[in-house]
Amino acid sequence: MPDHILGISAYYHDSAAVLLSAGEIVAAAHEERFTREKHDSSFPLNAARYVLSQGGIAYQDLTAVAFYDKPYLKFERLLETYHAFAPRGLTSFVSAIPVWIKEKLFMKKMLRDELHKLGEGQVPLLFPEHHLSHAASAFYPSPFKQAAILTIDGVGEWATATIGHGDDTEIRIINELHFPHSIGLLYSAFTYYTGFRVNSGEYKLMGLAPYGNPEAERTRRYKDLILSNLVDIRDDGSILLNMDYFNFATGLRMTFDHKFAGLFGIPPRAPEAEIDQAYMDLALAIQQVTEEIVMRLAGTVKERTGAEYLVMAGGVALNSVANGKLLQSGLFKDIWIQPAAGDAGGALGAAYTVWYLGHQKQRNINGPEDCMRGAYLGPEYSQSEILGTIRKYGAKNREYAQFQELAHDVASLLAEGKVVGWFQGRMEYGPRALGNRSILGDPRNPEMQKKMNLKIKYREGFRPFAPAVLEEDISEYFNLDRPSPYMLFVIPVLEKHRKPLPADYLNRDLYQKLYFERSDIPAVTHIDYSARIQSVNAKTNPRFWQLINAFKELTGCGLLINTSFNVRGEPIVCTPEDAYRCFMHTEMDYLVLDMYLLAKSEQIPWPKTAADQVHFAAD
Ligand SMILES: [Fe+2]
Repeated sequence: MPDHILGISAYYHDSAAVLLSAGEIVAAAHEERFTREKHDSSFPLNAARYVLSQGGIAYQDLTAVAFYDKPYLKFERLLETYHAFAPRGLTSFVSAIPVWIKEKLFMKKMLRDELHKLGEGQVPLLFPEHHLSHAASAFYPSPFKQAAILTIDGVGEWATATIGHGDDTEIRIINELHFPHSIGLLYSAFTYYTGFRVNSGEYKLMGLAPYGNPEAERTRRYKDLILSNLVDIRDDGSILLNMDYFNFATGLRMTFDHKFAGLFGIPPRAPEAEIDQAYMDLALAIQQVTEEIVMRLAGTVKERTGAEYLVMAGGVALNSVANGKLLQSGLFKDIWIQPAAGDAGGALGAAYTVWYLGHQKQRNINGPEDCMRGAYLGPEYSQSEILGTIRKYGAKNREYAQFQELAHDVASLLAEGKVVGWFQGRMEYGPRALGNRSILGDPRNPEMQKKMNLKIKYREGFRPFAPAVLEEDISEYFNLDRPSPYMLFVIPVLEKHRKPLPADYLNRDLYQKLYFERSDIPAVTHIDYSARIQSVNAKTNPRFWQLINAFKELTGCGLLINTSFNVRGEPIVCTPEDAYRCFMHTEMDYLVLDMYLLAKSEQIPWPKTAADQVHFAAD
């Protein structure tokens, strides 16, 4: 019987469960998708039940359960930190420590209690370290036999970043950067200060940065202030934070606001308040500083390992702008980043760690493919389950017998400017929707970014959308010569697709800048002519590939806007019912559930389909 390992991440943010059987990923899912609570950090009971059922195994069949960090080390870090900064953190000490003593110090017992809900039996429970879990999630499923490893996040137990080397089944951590000196927490401090939510708004800060004026004296001054007051970056990329300015070690906030305000001359931005140019310049300054740190760390790991390839994980590895620059620097022949680079991916890494380090098995390297199967590792729903939802809501729908006809009709709708929810097959693992739980639109349409942000996603208009492009066409649009399947690299749009900007462009306000047509694919071209690319492979996701290809046959354009199927503040949809409800609560025009096309009412015209004989399943 093969070994089955259940990987768990929980109790911080983004809980997840993974089943690894004989070293192969059977299933992986975030708990938030089941509970519908974004970034759910509770024990991933639903996700664990799902991955076990996907593998067709009972809890007692497991060889081991792997948890993604060592709770005792984390507790030690907490105690020592409060001790080191005493009496500064007394208030938060008083509120945090009893919770830790009650809940987290007894984590083993708590985990056992939760695991017993999955079934009877004593399965060994193992605790690989947090950054080893990140490193394993980056290296083992990668297509490389040997690679340098870089993990960067907020904090695990003590480590906040590591450099290491992977060689076949072995991972060696070479060096660690320790709390409180953390690149992730530095970035999160600015996420907070610019008015976004820590642990989820980091993407928004990165999206805001290109609106900063790179030529402005203020941007340069902000960067100088950061480098001379807040963070000392050493040649090897390790950093020292000046803890006089940061309150995250002991307080309930990220920064000492009065000190930040004194330094930058602006108060913390209130969430939802207008975004003044100063905050955009600040966003650009901290993004530039982060890129510099990542580049130096990458240089160090290259120097220490001599490796040709690099793998990355940890929350900061989701900074796709920094990743794109690192890839384009040519420092490494290629870079592979775990699509679930945040803490959800720790569940996979923990399971892999136990499998390889504990068992010394042979490693299957699929090169050039990785082992993530496109990250389509979550639940899928049968035709009868989908029909059940359609009938429950009496939804107007058309069933297709041939996928090709569905693809053709949806491509026509998209070309007419309609926005379509696209629900197919297994849900994605990791924070990005990659064409199975996606909302799609026409990237050529200059109105589409506004429409999708404001009427469908209900989110800040400045946030860019990502293109999903046929893998074969990637070099036709972008300055990239290889696939980018997980939207983890931001890359320039080719010159031939760009449109010139007016001379006074940099001085215009945010929304004027935003809605200026910058290219012939404006909805996916960011303000600085870049795009966060997903390439779609015909074998990995044949349906999504066929849809984009049908759009290309109609329009000559081999890409679509792909944004995750959710509205602001909600997790990505999991079930057909989640998808239907999201569809009905937004101004999305059509919804595809597997082989069914749904409309909101009789008034919405149906596409002129090639298949006149299609029937109406629930009319
Ligand atoms: Fe982490």
